[in-house]
Amino acid sequence: MPEFILVNPQIAPYVAHIQLNRPKELNALNLELMLEIKEVLIQLDADENVRAIVLSGNERAFAAGADIKQMAGRTAVDMLKIDQFTTWDSIRKTKKPLIAAVSGFALGGGCELMMICDMVIASETAQFGQPEISIGVMPGAGGTQRLTRAVGKVKAMEMVLTGKFINAEEALKYGLVNKVVPIEHYLNEAVNLASVIAEKSPIAVQMAKESVLKAFEMPLQEALFFERKNFYMLFATEDQKEGMAAFVEKRKAVFKGQ
Ligand code: HXC
Repeated sequence: MPEFILVNPQIAPYVAHIQLNRPKELNALNLELMLEIKEVLIQLDADENVRAIVLSGNERAFAAGADIKQMAGRTAVDMLKIDQFTTWDSIRKTKKPLIAAVSGFALGGGCELMMICDMVIASETAQFGQPEISIGVMPGAGGTQRLTRAVGKVKAMEMVLTGKFINAEEALKYGLVNKVVPIEHYLNEAVNLASVIAEKSPIAVQMAKESVLKAFEMPLQEALFFERKNFYMLFATEDQKEGMAAFVEKRKAVFKGQ
């Protein structure tokens, strides 16, 4: 049983929920918690009854960053040997869509974990930042790269070099989050979004997610080629036949993930 997260494999049909659960520490991401997320995501990725996954904290904090108390005394060699980013890499490779439901603080590693997710629903109280500069370090789990791709150079520089937080409204303006909703709705809104995706063909969703991510990893020509292969591949699925037949017959498609 995980100690630092709560897992509901079926918060809605085909939708799983992982909740970070170190409330006293504002969900600071210690190594153990990250390992638990990684393990659960591997299980949920393999579970045919799960088609989308919501990741949340609580109302006060999504996560206030990596656990500073756990890191404070470490040397560079300790950090190298611990090699925590293998865990982060595994989380990043989750095939199913990950939707972050963010309320309160999403800082440092918390903001980086959120940016690994594919979509973000934020509460009006959410605050985002990369405050590592204020404790003598810098982002290490993708913050300088994913934040820059999301919000552009000058805003990323401002956040990374000053450690200043931005609020939900600004995050929406800069394209860091999909939608901002009142605090009482942020989790439901994320589950609703996950449920819409969960009604689609899970194979098409997986291929589409993989293809969108290539936009950040490959030159355009290669990425277009990758997209095309995935597009062709979907014509080998029953879900493609069902989806197009349902359209022609004017009924709702029922996708089986075959
Ligand atoms: C360990 C943390 C923590 C953290 C908060 N806490 N953030 N513990 N690591 N990142 C603990 C506090 O020590 C405190 O414990 C309790 O949570 C409540 O926090 P307070 O500071 O009392 O709350 P508040 O005054 O409301 O301030 C909230 C806050 C502040 C602005 C979020 O806690 C803060 O600045 N936290 C650190 C944010 C940060 O620098 N994150 C980046 C970390 S480095 P006690 O026991 O005292 O009550 C990072 C690198 C990632 O993320 C690299 C890749 C992995």
